[in-house]
Amino acid sequence: MTTNVTAGGGIAARAADVWKVYGSGEAQVIALHGVSVELERGHFTAIMGPSGSGKSTLMHTLAGLDSVTRGDIFVGDTRLTGMSDKALTDLRRTKVGFIFQQFNLLPTLTAEENILLPLSIAGRKPDSAWFDTVIKTVGLSDRLGHRPSQLSGGQQQRVACARALVSRPEVIFADEPTGNLDSRSGAEVLSFLRNSVREFGQTIVMVTHDPNAASYADRVIFLADGRIVDELRDPTAEAVLDKLKGLDSAGSMDLAPARLADEVA
Ligand SMILES: Nc1ncnc2c1ncn2[C@@H]1O[C@H](COP(=O)(O)OP(=O)(O)OP(=O)(O)O)[C@@H](O)[C@H]1O
Ligand SMILES: [Mg+2]
Repeated sequence: MTTNVTAGGGIAARAADVWKVYGSGEAQVIALHGVSVELERGHFTAIMGPSGSGKSTLMHTLAGLDSVTRGDIFVGDTRLTGMSDKALTDLRRTKVGFIFQQFNLLPTLTAEENILLPLSIAGRKPDSAWFDTVIKTVGLSDRLGHRPSQLSGGQQQRVACARALVSRPEVIFADEPTGNLDSRSGAEVLSFLRNSVREFGQTIVMVTHDPNAASYADRVIFLADGRIVDELRDPTAEAVLDKLKGLDSAGSMDLAPARLADEVA
């Protein structure tokens, strides 16, 4: 069954000249230096870059989990910048899905209860045909009554994927979703993510350190020192690895932390 969630293309989320500055004075860190990026609807985008390059910061600002210092974030047509906390919480509940490295399932709930939790919190009823499709796609039909402790890591992450997908959010953000999985379970989760993009038109943005994981995406964006420095379309693991090698050698020469005053004055 193909359910076309997001026909027609367009931009699911975007950052427009986004700066993120942590701290002040000597302790100041510029995590994002004027990042502009458009994330296409119905695409699978990977974000890569060295540790500390701003990947999680970019993802958190795009998802409305963290504020920006300057610039604008849009999810669909909604401008997040300047929204009240309550409006942001509503937006995260209805338009955004999350998958974390640590799965973040509630241990006392069954797989099914975990998957339906965001909808229950939002007071929404699941579309039962869609729920069945999601469960079938993640291959969890015979595990719905199990608690997280009774599931393997890969199965737990597939529960987390189903939980993100069941509300059909505008965008799913995944921060190293395969970071705690062996390669086989990781491949299952990545195949599932890619299928939900191909078959259901879901938009997914994934941070990863793994060139092989990135090769499942349609597009890879490379960050270094808080800036987008490169990108690849239809990436192979080899092409991603080559780009990353280039970033590492460039990044190691930049030892002085930048100061906002120098950059924007
Ligand atoms: N709450 C914070 N306070 C101060 N500095 C922060 C904070 N969060 C992140 N940073 C800094 O911002 C920069 C970007 O951090 P970020 O977590 O986005 O990196 P990352 O690319 O996700 O790295 P990793 O691959 O290690 O997860 C880093 O230099 C980090 O130390
Ligand atoms: Mg990170």
